[in-house]
Amino acid sequence: MLTALRCAIKKGTETLKIGTPKEVFDGENRVAMTPDSALQLQKLGHECLIEAGAGANAGFSDAAYAAAGVTVVKTAAALWKEADIIAKVRQPDAAELKRLSADKTLISFFNPAGNEEGMDAAKKKGATVIAMEMVPRISRAQKMDALSSMANIAGYRAVIEAGNNFGRFFTGQVTAAGKVPPAKVLIVGAGVAGLAAIGTSTSLGAITYAFDVRPEVAEQVESMGAEFVYLDFEEEQQDGAATGGYASVSSPEFRDAQLAKFRELAPQMDIVITTALIPNREAPKLWLADMVAAMKPGSVIIDLAAEKGGNVEGTVKDQKVVTENGVTIVGYTDFPSRMAAQASSLYATNIRHMMTDLTPAKDGVVNHNMEDDVIRGATVTHAGEITFPPPPPKIAAIAAKSKEKPKELTPEEKRAAEAAAFKAATKQQVGVLAIGTVLVLILGAYAPASFMQHFIVFALACFVGFQVIWNVSHSLHTPLMAVTNAISGIVVLGALLQVGSSSWLVMILSAISILIATINIVGGFMVTRRMLAMFQKS
Ligand code: NAI
Repeated sequence: MLTALRCAIKKGTETLKIGTPKEVFDGENRVAMTPDSALQLQKLGHECLIEAGAGANAGFSDAAYAAAGVTVVKTAAALWKEADIIAKVRQPDAAELKRLSADKTLISFFNPAGNEEGMDAAKKKGATVIAMEMVPRISRAQKMDALSSMANIAGYRAVIEAGNNFGRFFTGQVTAAGKVPPAKVLIVGAGVAGLAAIGTSTSLGAITYAFDVRPEVAEQVESMGAEFVYLDFEEEQQDGAATGGYASVSSPEFRDAQLAKFRELAPQMDIVITTALIPNREAPKLWLADMVAAMKPGSVIIDLAAEKGGNVEGTVKDQKVVTENGVTIVGYTDFPSRMAAQASSLYATNIRHMMTDLTPAKDGVVNHNMEDDVIRGATVTHAGEITFPPPPPKIAAIAAKSKEKPKELTPEEKRAAEAAAFKAATKQQVGVLAIGTVLVLILGAYAPASFMQHFIVFALACFVGFQVIWNVSHSLHTPLMAVTNAISGIVVLGALLQVGSSSWLVMILSAISILIATINIVGGFMVTRRMLAMFQKS
């Protein structure tokens, strides 16, 4: 069974050819292979092909590809014929699907949830299709997560686009001609695009607010210098708890509280960027017509969810409209394509990492391992079968949290539980102390007095050290390690005094102490340096 699932494709001793055609979708500027990614693909043992002019709109000339060892093929037809693996950006159209065959693998955005004909066509041809939007959001797959790379660009570009349509500064200024207040920006949905927008907006100096149904992102939002918008709601943003790294649908009460908050914020906001999305659903309408009407003239709304129907009432897909009260609503769905060079580099890197997973031996042989969570998750047709939807990944998604809520206790039950826990802890402590005292007394009866003096200091030091470290939260262990250099220094000093001892046991123990404490000190300095670097602007 296992061997049946594992499909190793290789034509004789030839290496497989990866080819990238020019995108046929109107206005698409991105390309799925760059000269840099081609160099990396060749290191995996593959040969690279590109259709002439495919990278031109993203700033990569045919000459640059040729210099990177890529064969430039004149026509799309020739490329699809010659390549074993076709890497492209946009979902293939009908003509492209016709070019698939049983020995070909297509790696591309494919929109499987809304592209049944596409999957049927690929299945009939017996081709393998890897849909880049299906890469599961697990830690190991982050480097292949093309949705995130594109959303990151969209978030950044959304702020730039907003600035382009906004007639004022982002940052506040005091000039000779008067004081300029900073712009107020609200970002709805703090996923990948939202966080990129928050980072860009705060770095441009705007006062930035952000809202999300997942309360766990509040800390992240605040660490980026934005203010998290909390709701006056009993369940406190619990309804949208993450599933598989994404949000789930909110309850009607939660939605009402959310809309009430937005209504309150609308007149104050200069720029609103909406990125709220629940996978495989229409985007929820969150910024309603009355909120648009309540905004000041000159305000700007960027609706990143325009592709899925939009979060804003009044968004027109792929267009910029200005409302009667002078609010500009931008519904472009091609932000990554508007930054084609950057988007192509990131997307091509995602594809290259996918190829690394598919070519584990780096010998130009593709091992389509359906046991691999990432490959299985992204494969939508394989060996003449539609394999979409995939089973849930075996590894939990990054942001996934247990949905089980702890049982609510009444105040009496809580008090009783606390008292019982205190009693048990006291009992345990008394027991440990009694055993310790007995052991010290027995030791004192036989050991020399000078040993006992040192031993008691040692035992007390262990106790104090334990008490200090034990309650430090795990997230603070790294900074803690960075500041324990002083303790390590004392250990080194003590060991240095002892290392010259005539007893070989003392000598060996001292040498080990010096080694370990020195590693600690060097590590401490390295960690400190890294931590400081995180706060430095390059
Ligand atoms: P994501 O899934 O990482 O983030 C979406 C966020 O919205 C999540 O944090 C989720 O909790 C939040 N959310 C869901 N329902 C909400 C609600 N009712 N209220 C507030 N927050 C809510 O998605 P990602 O990757 O950040 O993408 C965001 C949007 O950007 C998507 O709609 C995507 O299609 C779009 N996009 C648009 C592009 C363009 O050119 N216009 C390009 C790339 C992405």
